[in-house]
Amino acid sequence: MASPAPDAAIQSPTGAPSGATVAARPLAIEVRNLVCHYDGREVLKKVDCAVASGEVMVVMGGSGSGKTTLLRCMLGLKRPSAGSVRLLGEDVYVCSGATLQDLRKKMGVAFQGGALLSSLTLAENLMLPLEEHTRLDRSTMRTMARMKLEAVDLGGYEDLKPAELSGGMVKRAALARAIVLDPPLLFFDEHSAGLDPVVAAEIDELIIRLRDALGMTIVVVTHELASAFRIADRITVLDRGEILQSDRPQAIRESAITRVQDLIQRRPGRNRSDTDAYLGRLRGND
Ligand SMILES: Nc1ncnc2c1ncn2[C@@H]1O[C@H](COP(=O)(O)OP(=O)(O)OP(=O)(O)O)[C@@H](O)[C@H]1O
Ligand SMILES: [Mg+2]
Repeated sequence: MASPAPDAAIQSPTGAPSGATVAARPLAIEVRNLVCHYDGREVLKKVDCAVASGEVMVVMGGSGSGKTTLLRCMLGLKRPSAGSVRLLGEDVYVCSGATLQDLRKKMGVAFQGGALLSSLTLAENLMLPLEEHTRLDRSTMRTMARMKLEAVDLGGYEDLKPAELSGGMVKRAALARAIVLDPPLLFFDEHSAGLDPVVAAEIDELIIRLRDALGMTIVVVTHELASAFRIADRITVLDRGEILQSDRPQAIRESAITRVQDLIQRRPGRNRSDTDAYLGRLRGND
C-alpha cells in the first residue's frame, strides 16, 4: 500500500480547481489510523486522511470498499476500534456529549439515497434540523427552508412530498436539508449515483458553489469518476478498507499504483481474476 501524501501537500495545495491560493489552511477533518470492524470483520484498515478547511475531498472506491463506513466514522455514528477522527479540532470519540452536540450543528449530511422522510413535505423535511438545533419560530424556519430550496433550484416545490420528485430533485432536496444550518462541514454520500450526466453535473456545480461562496469543507463519497475529477481538490482512493492513495486529482490521474489506475480506467483489475477463478471453479477447472 502506498503511503498517503504528507500533510504538507494538504496545507500547500497546487492546482485546486477553485484557483484559491491556500497558504496554510488549517485541517478541518483529520482521520488517523482508523480501524473499524463489523461483527469482528475489519472493514477499515489503518485509514489516514485529512481535509483542509474550504476544500472538497472525494472518497472513491469500488462497492464495499468502506466509503460509507469511513463517512459514518467521520460523523461520529460508527465508533472505530482504533484511531481517531478530529472535526474542527475536536476529537469526535473523546469529546464531551455537549461538544459533540455542538459539532453536529456544524455538520450537514446528505446520506446515500437522500433519507428524506416520505410523510413530510420538502419544507417540513428541511425544517427538521432547524427544529432540532434552533429555537426559531416556525415562520422563520419556513422562510429559511424556502431559501435553501431556492438555492438548489427547487423554489416552488416546498409543499411536495419526496415521492413526487425525480431522483435528481431528491438529491438536491437532500443537499438543501444538509445546508439548512449553513454548516462549515458538509458530507455527501453518492451525490450523483443513478442520475443522468446533466443533472449530475448540475449537482457538482452546486457543490463547487458551496465551497467557493460559503467556504464549506466538503467530503463527497462517489463512484462517479467524472464527478470526482470535476469537484475534488483531493481524492482519497479506498480499496477493501485500505487507502491506496490520497492526493491531488492530477496526481491520482498520473498514479503509478496499478489498482488506482484500474479504478480510474475502469479496468476489471483484481476483480477480474476473482471472477476468472470463480468461473474456473464452476467449470471444475480449479
Ligand atoms: N451495518 C453493517 N453491518 C455489517 N457489515 C456492514 C455494515 N455496513 C457495512 N458493512 C460491510 O462493510 C463493508 C464496507 O461497506 P460500506 O457500506 O462502507 O461500503 P461502500 O464502499 O460504501 O460501498 P457502496 O459503494 O456499495 O456504497 C462491506 O463489506 C459491508 O458488507
Ligand atoms: Mg456506500
